[in-house]
Amino acid sequence: MSAEVIYGSELAQSMRDEMKEEVVKLREQGIVPGLTVILIGEDPASKSYVRGKQKASDYVGVDSDLMTLPESTTEEELLSLIKKLNEQETVHGILVQLPLPKHINEEKIIEAISPEKDVDGFHPINIGRMMTGKDTFFPCTPFGIIQMLKSKNIEIAGKHAVVIGRSNIVGKPVGQLLLNENATVTYCHSKTNNMKDYIASADILIVAVGIEHFINGDFIKEGAVVIDVGVNRTAEGTLTGDVNFDSAKEKASYITPVPKGVGPMTITMLLHNTIKSAKIAHG
Ligand code: GUN
Repeated sequence: MSAEVIYGSELAQSMRDEMKEEVVKLREQGIVPGLTVILIGEDPASKSYVRGKQKASDYVGVDSDLMTLPESTTEEELLSLIKKLNEQETVHGILVQLPLPKHINEEKIIEAISPEKDVDGFHPINIGRMMTGKDTFFPCTPFGIIQMLKSKNIEIAGKHAVVIGRSNIVGKPVGQLLLNENATVTYCHSKTNNMKDYIASADILIVAVGIEHFINGDFIKEGAVVIDVGVNRTAEGTLTGDVNFDSAKEKASYITPVPKGVGPMTITMLLHNTIKSAKIAHG
């Protein structure tokens, strides 16, 4: 079998085009979705992500404000800025780019953001809502993955979904969203024994470990759906995923590439959440 490739880049573009039309209509009603992105320090990867968010916001018509703060910013300063943004009516979404400098407590910052403006879906209240099957702001990468599966009418209910990686941003929430869609979910991580047995039984395999070519075609079940969340820089400076694409493509039924796979969907779902927040705020 040679898998069908799911290009997140194409789905992201069509969703952004739809959102662009929606924002035109919202603006006609005086509703301007507003996103504030806070970037602290000089991390090159974070700077590049933030640039992508700005560009996509501009395209869709979301009013995006980037606040770049020095590495020396204190936790108190950041908390007081978030408090101000929580109260500002023109701001519907607040995103603090992670990771933060070591002297700032990430958990404290995430919990300071109003759950109503938490477009990352990282606040414990929104995570709790997600876990109890309520509609809320879902974390963007996991939410994007679900959209990709649905765009190809891939059946999730009853399937064995294996998630490799247990980060708060990707692994844990994607497993929860798949469970909400009635999959049977297994989480694998660095302490899992006999991981190969789980991988071999996966109907849907989500790989989010950050290790170049961690998964080979030999490991997976014939016809599996393989979603590669990894973004790794090779020795040659190009980007590659956690899956050996060429070998896995021969056994999978569907597979996502890196780049042009999951990545573009993350920003798209951030815009979706921001527009959703603006609509809720304006009743
Ligand atoms: N750093 C890497 N991914 C993300 C994300 O989705 N949101 C935020 N805030 N920071 C990140």
